[in-house]
Amino acid sequence: MRKIVIAIDGTAGSGKTTICLKLAYLLNYTPVLTGKLYRGIGAYIKRHNLKPEEIKEKIKDLKIEYKFEKNVPKIFVNGEDLTSELSDPEVEKITSKIAEFKEVRSFLYNVQREFVERKGVIMEGRDIGTVIAPDADLKIYMDADIKIRAERRLKDFKEKGKNVNYETVLKELEKRDKRDKERVNAPLKKAKDAYFIDTTNKTIDEVVYEILKLAYEKIYTSKDKLRWRIAYVIVYPIIKWLFGMKIKGRENILKRGPCIITPNHVTFWDPPFVGFAVKRECYFLAKIDLFVTNPLFAWLIRTFNAIPIRRGAGAISAYERAEELLKEGKVVIIFPEGTRSKTGKLLPFKKGAASLACKVRVPVYPVYIENVKEGPLKWIIRKKRLRITIDKPLLPSDNTKEYVEEFNKKIEERVKNLMAT
Ligand code: DC
Repeated sequence: MRKIVIAIDGTAGSGKTTICLKLAYLLNYTPVLTGKLYRGIGAYIKRHNLKPEEIKEKIKDLKIEYKFEKNVPKIFVNGEDLTSELSDPEVEKITSKIAEFKEVRSFLYNVQREFVERKGVIMEGRDIGTVIAPDADLKIYMDADIKIRAERRLKDFKEKGKNVNYETVLKELEKRDKRDKERVNAPLKKAKDAYFIDTTNKTIDEVVYEILKLAYEKIYTSKDKLRWRIAYVIVYPIIKWLFGMKIKGRENILKRGPCIITPNHVTFWDPPFVGFAVKRECYFLAKIDLFVTNPLFAWLIRTFNAIPIRRGAGAISAYERAEELLKEGKVVIIFPEGTRSKTGKLLPFKKGAASLACKVRVPVYPVYIENVKEGPLKWIIRKKRLRITIDKPLLPSDNTKEYVEEFNKKIEERVKNLMAT
């Protein structure tokens, strides 16, 4: 597993900060919100009653530290914690001015370069992909319609209890865009090799997932085992044709990197069918009983990555193995009902899959297998269709007990919705 550097640049209000924080959480990386460094200098100027110009000379005596503690970025200048002053409107004005000074930019260049050298970072700003980390492994440039950005800003201000109107916010943004793009030193612009993402009509999670996919492709390089590739190339087309299998939503699945698949569970056939639908090498948790009845069957499921799981406290070792595999970037199938549903009705979801996803911070794909109980004859004569639907992923953002419970409910709700449509 490689540790990479991700650079995110873009206009104010395009969603950089929120997306950077969520991605950093999922990848367990340090998020570096570089605007805070500039703001830190702005706050220092205000606190010490300096004229903005004076900083050009004084900057060499400053020691600026960026710390990411308890999910909050903190800024210390010469040991003083200036975090609470960073979004003061006057500080913002000073910042925007001093961000144009080449003395300030070259001083902060060195600070930011230290993060780049460390790897395992996501940095967001205006010139990360172009100036600070032209060597970044993945570069993103984000933008959105200015009216939407103004609405987002307005919502932020309102949530913070600030009373401002839409027109003022819009005008401010127009000014900021102009300043960011037209300044002489390190203007905001898309690096040639950056992916452009228009966030106008996208949710935060959609954008996060788009970038996560790209990041996983750089981080994880392992390939599927040969036997799996053979299964997909030779066995799968035959099964698909013979049973008239229909698969929906495969494009949702990541090409590389870890994820958990959570299908409903009706028959023994579910794991291979889900495996075919996913079309990547999968591991799946299977009850220990399956390994003791028939040696040939036991050999087969072991060959195709079944992880034996005991009941009760004995389940821990299977979950530990699944955790290891996810950390290596593998796909793990867990049937959250814990057992096959005799009636085909969805049983209440156990928390195992949700808590593993929250612990390892990986996407979860709800999946619905339809008509699996009907059996091969009905599929062959096309009386019933064997259908597998893969939903869009759910991304965890916390690991508290309450959150895991809520996340588990979300997964269950999604599978129910797939069943209802
Ligand atoms: O992203 P932000 O609003 O916190 O940025 C604060 C200021 O710093 C803004 O005026 C743009 C400037 N900035 C910059 O010039 N280069 C960066 N890499 C980040 C921010």
